[in-house]
Amino acid sequence: MKKRIIVGNWKMNPTTFDEAKRIFKSTKSAAEKLKSVSVVLCPPFVYIPQLLNSRTESAVSVGAQDVYFEERGSFTGEISPLMLKDLGIKYVIVGHSEKRAKGQTDEMIAKKVAMLLEIGISPILCIGEETRSEDGAHLDFLKSQIKNSLNKVSKKNIGDLIVAYEPIWAIGAKEAMKPEDIYEMSIFIRKVLADLYGHDEAVATPVLYGGSVNFRNALEIFEKGQINGLLVGRESVNVAGFVELLKTIDA
Ligand code: 13P
Repeated sequence: MKKRIIVGNWKMNPTTFDEAKRIFKSTKSAAEKLKSVSVVLCPPFVYIPQLLNSRTESAVSVGAQDVYFEERGSFTGEISPLMLKDLGIKYVIVGHSEKRAKGQTDEMIAKKVAMLLEIGISPILCIGEETRSEDGAHLDFLKSQIKNSLNKVSKKNIGDLIVAYEPIWAIGAKEAMKPEDIYEMSIFIRKVLADLYGHDEAVATPVLYGGSVNFRNALEIFEKGQINGLLVGRESVNVAGFVELLKTIDA
């Protein structure tokens, strides 16, 4: 059975390293007991090196929340993919809507995805529409977002790609998208991937859902949504809830 992937995006939380250690440790001890779930935690950059050092056996992989699209040079405040590679990072969230909202374009995201795949890091490519419309305009939007974000990636490099469908209206919301609708979208996303890279590649690419997932709704979303995993925001820094979520999906 293919492993289910649960990614915790801590975003800009917590504000102290002590708290980060506490969340990481508790998540890790829960993750050590899981059989069918891979856990990836994406803390803020400043905590990454120390959390990586506190790792014994890697029941939890540490990922990053973003990366820059150049390898080195005069780019104040940016982090190079090579730096992440050197630390041993295997996953990087790319194109999160909160970064797109601050000016990241499909073009920049396409460069990041291609660079990461080239050096053996899995990009967790976030896609998602702002609103849904009766006439299906959001499907066209999504299709071009996927195509544009992958336009520098060839079939031979696609193996490590992970796609995370996060409808913007469901992020930080009260409720997640309906599992039936997630199912429809997961089929649509695979269809777009199949058109680009072929059926086998599309089936092999993990598709995650993100947006207001918690321990209560996770299982239904996972089962009815027919997805390969979840990208979790708020609930990933709420240790008790996140541990419960992991156990539920593993069971
Ligand atoms: P929430 O789970 O807090 O809605 O955030 C989802 C998200 O943006 C994960 O990347």
